Amino acid sequence: MSLPEIFLERLGRILEPSDLIVAMSAFKSEVPTVFRPNLLKCNSEDLRAELESVGFELTALDFPPDTFTVPSDQRRALTEHAAWSEGRLWIQNPSSMLPPILLDAQSGEDVLDLAAAPGSKTLQLASTGARLTAVEKNRGRFFKLKANLKSQDATNVETRMTDGTGFWRGREESFDKILLDAPCSSEGRFRADDLKSYAYWSPRKIREMKRVQFRLAISAIRMLRPGGILAYSTCTFAPEENEGILDKLLSRFGGVLEILPLDLPLKNVQNGLSEWEGRSFAPEISAARRVLPDGLFEGFFLALIQKKTSIPTRSDV
Ligand SMILES: C[S@@+](CC[C@H](N)C(=O)[O-])C[C@H]1O[C@@H](n2cnc3c(N)ncnc32)[C@H](O)[C@@H]1O
Repeated sequence: MSLPEIFLERLGRILEPSDLIVAMSAFKSEVPTVFRPNLLKCNSEDLRAELESVGFELTALDFPPDTFTVPSDQRRALTEHAAWSEGRLWIQNPSSMLPPILLDAQSGEDVLDLAAAPGSKTLQLASTGARLTAVEKNRGRFFKLKANLKSQDATNVETRMTDGTGFWRGREESFDKILLDAPCSSEGRFRADDLKSYAYWSPRKIREMKRVQFRLAISAIRMLRPGGILAYSTCTFAPEENEGILDKLLSRFGGVLEILPLDLPLKNVQNGLSEWEGRSFAPEISAARRVLPDGLFEGFFLALIQKKTSIPTRSDV
């Protein structure tokens, strides 16, 4: 089987030709298993020494910090090791680690994870000491999130099974930082040898996702305190779900929002696009970043958005 033709045609218009070649090979290549220590339970050096002493071949990544790989044929053994069953390590693609790192939550801040399950990023945020709330709409995934938080000793998280699009009611200006790792068409996780990874993809899926993404993003903006920061991310390439959402937010909220510059010490990144299918995006959206698949990092998109002031009420304008 091969990846959907319409997807490949679109990707050819999103990426530079040289990046497309790398991405096409990454969709087919064997990916090492990437993991990070659960800093609530152990430190990197002890975990590394413990795993190497029983034969795991660890390589530390330059970035993100405290992140290791083992060859893909050691993945199974890793999930059978006590460090996994005892919740001392978490397997996670490095692209997925970026939004919590950039959000830079601090102890004592009120932080919301608005689309949280299965909780990879909630777990990262939990080790910051922030006052953390995690929302998940899907019942099965909500209980998976709860189980993951428990096994990793992330006890400082308030969890809510509810629809994030309406969660803002009664919570306007309640959070310093919000992570919206939005449900998406998941193009960044496609694997050429895994039909399941792309079987549910279609242009219609993109249209469906962009509607819920925008509603979740509006909810997030309402809940941010003035000065607060939203990290918006998806694991998809589709500009409609990425730059398109940022552009609609800027139009909707006028001068209230600012897209912040992102400093990512990675080579496999592209600035936010300036246009897609005849629609121009606001120039400041170039500050967003698309992480390109390179055989280690999966495809990803992220932006930091600051709410500079309260949203004016009708009587203010
Ligand atoms: C990309 S996944 C989140 C992954 C998660 N941040 C992590 O790192 O493990 C998006 C999640 O949003 C949930 N979701 C979809 N619509 C939602 C809504 N309206 N409100 C809250 N959660 C929603 C999905 O069930 C899914 O679990």
